[in-house]
Order: sequence, then structure tokens, then C-alpha cells
Amino acid sequence: MHKKLFIPGPVEVRPDVLEKMATPMIGHRGKPASKLQRDISDKMRKLFYTEEEILLSTTSGSGLMEGAIRSCTAKRAAVFSVGAFGDRWYEMATTNNVPADIFKSEDGKPTTPEMVDEALKTGKYDLVTVTHNETSAGLMNPVEEIAEVMKKYPDVVWCLDTVSSAAGSKIEVDKLGVDICITSTQKAIGLPPGMAICTMSKKAVERAKQVPHRGLYLDLLSLYDYIQKKDYQYPSTPSLSHMYALDYQLDRIMEEGLDNRFNRHIEMAEVVRAWAREHFEIFPDERYLSNTLTNVKNTRNIDVADLNKKLGERGFQIANGYGKLKDKTFRIAHMADCQMEDIKELLAVMDEILGF
Ligand SMILES: Cc1ncc(COP(=O)(O)O)c(C=O)c1O
Repeated sequence: MHKKLFIPGPVEVRPDVLEKMATPMIGHRGKPASKLQRDISDKMRKLFYTEEEILLSTTSGSGLMEGAIRSCTAKRAAVFSVGAFGDRWYEMATTNNVPADIFKSEDGKPTTPEMVDEALKTGKYDLVTVTHNETSAGLMNPVEEIAEVMKKYPDVVWCLDTVSSAAGSKIEVDKLGVDICITSTQKAIGLPPGMAICTMSKKAVERAKQVPHRGLYLDLLSLYDYIQKKDYQYPSTPSLSHMYALDYQLDRIMEEGLDNRFNRHIEMAEVVRAWAREHFEIFPDERYLSNTLTNVKNTRNIDVADLNKKLGERGFQIANGYGKLKDKTFRIAHMADCQMEDIKELLAVMDEILGF
């Protein structure tokens, strides 16, 4: 039996979107391939509210995260972490020999504008990474406030991880001043895993030109240059199957309307939060809650694995806590094409299993 996924990626993918993955292949050096990739870039610009360039990568989001920190740090990176995926960005820096420092927040607490200001005023850093939506914590950082601080440091390249929030929460890249905004296909966009997408500002392009060892496959500058010269084609063979599905899904997203989509995510989040407050507690600071997933503190000490086993028997799957939070929290995702009735159905089944 297929289990309906309420995990924070991969997510349920609509059958019509899945079908697009089975579109017959075309050559990746022809005009139809250019058109497909150009169309996706135009639509992604709308989703990210940007005029800047879009890069596609046949990797998951981690590929572009690693590519960004390696390609665009000339001096030293300041990595702000509110959980596992922030920590991962620091590991990507150190394993690539990119000088970096990590600034960690307490569990469940955000990256604050003050933390960013404190670090940047030392003048040591020329690149900053921030997690927009930390999937391990269920926390959404105050990026509008962080953006105010970033405006004081116009030479610093700002990388933002929106892997689990893009297409589920409004992220106005140009207004915020984000230089590289990264996401993956398998979360709020609602596609299978296997592709990553980012924006790249001219500032980031100029910076990459000053970095001598950017690697090859994930060199953001070479991807950028190639699509300029070859009309949106890429140096290596991309996952055209993902592109067919992404192009189609972006049309669906625009048909729904971006604001309607973001509001749907907020409404689903509010229902799950209310349920969590009634029966448990919410893990992160309530002022910084994610709209795409809810991280529930396991205050009743329930057996999360057993709950998921029973949910599985009924055709549902949620996520346990991430890493050190494995049994201390559990996570319910409400993203992509998940609808309110799906959430209500899940919560009713959880009520029945837990005896609420
Ligand atoms: C916030 C966040 N950043 C980064 C990643 C890594 O993305 P990917 O698995 O697409 O490489 C994830 C994956 O869950 C994530 O949730």
C-alpha cells in the first residue's frame, strides 16, 4: 500500500506531475532543450520575485549549497545555523577548504539580525549563509529583519537555504537582497527529488570570478556563463525528465496563484499547530514557526516509531525528529500540493491511534 507522505520531503507528487517525468527524451543540445530550460528560468524568476539569473542543477539542494559556498567565498564565510542543515553548510565549507566560522543559535531559537551584525562588523567575512526554513527544527528565520542588517554590508554575498520553504512561503529574493537563493524539487515545489534550483545575482557572479578553485561540476560561475552563451543549456547532461515535470508544475503553481498557495500553506500550518498545542507542545520558539512543517515536542513521551507504524498500516507517514531530536519531537509536513482535507484526515487518524 502506498503511504501518503506527510514527511518534509520527498512529498506526495500529483499523478499528472509524475506523468510528465515520462515524457519522451529530446537531445539536450537542441533548441527545444533551450526553450524548456529558458521557460523554467522565467517561471522560477516569478516564484522567487527576482530579475536575476536562475541556475538549475541535476543534484539535490545540497549540490548547489556546496557549490555556492565554494564558488563565492573569496575571504571567509559566516555560517549561521539553527539546526542540522545550517551545520551541514559549515561542513561543506570545511571539507572544501573554504575558511568559515559557524554561529549557532540555541535549540529552537532563530538566527537574529544582531548575531549577523556582530559577525559582519568584524569585517572578516565576505559571504553569509542563512537557513530560511530549518527542517530539523520546524523554524522559519526572520529574514526580513536579517535583510535590514545585510543592507549595511553591500559587499557581502548572501546565500539563503530555502530548500524546504520555496513555493510554500513567500521569498522575495530581490527585495531581501539575497544573492543566491537555493531550493530543491522534492519539497514545497512538489516534484520527485533529483534537481536543485538557485538564483544568482550579478554580485555573486563577480565574486565567483575572484575565487580560483571553484571545482568543476558545481562551479556556479561555469553554469552561469554556459547558460548565457548557449541559450540556457548546461555544461553537463541535465535531468530533462525533472525539467518537463518542473515546467508543468510551475504552470500549475501560477494557476493556483502564488499568494493563494502561500496562504494555503499558512492555513494548513495553523490547523496542525492548534492540534499540537492542544495535545503536545510546539518545539521551536512560537514567534518563528515554519509554514511548511510543524515540529511537535513529544511531551507525552509517546513511541514515535510505533505511531508511525500504526499510521503506516492505515496508509500515512509522518517524520520522527531529526538527528538528536529523533524521539524528542515528531514532524508533520504540510507542503506542496497537500490540501486541508489531507491534513484533517491525517489528524483524525492520529487522534484515533493516540486515543484523543
Ligand atoms: C533546510 C534544508 N536544507 C538543505 C537540505 C538538503 O537538501 P537536499 O536533500 O535536497 O540535498 C534539506 C533537506 O532536507 C533541508 O531540509
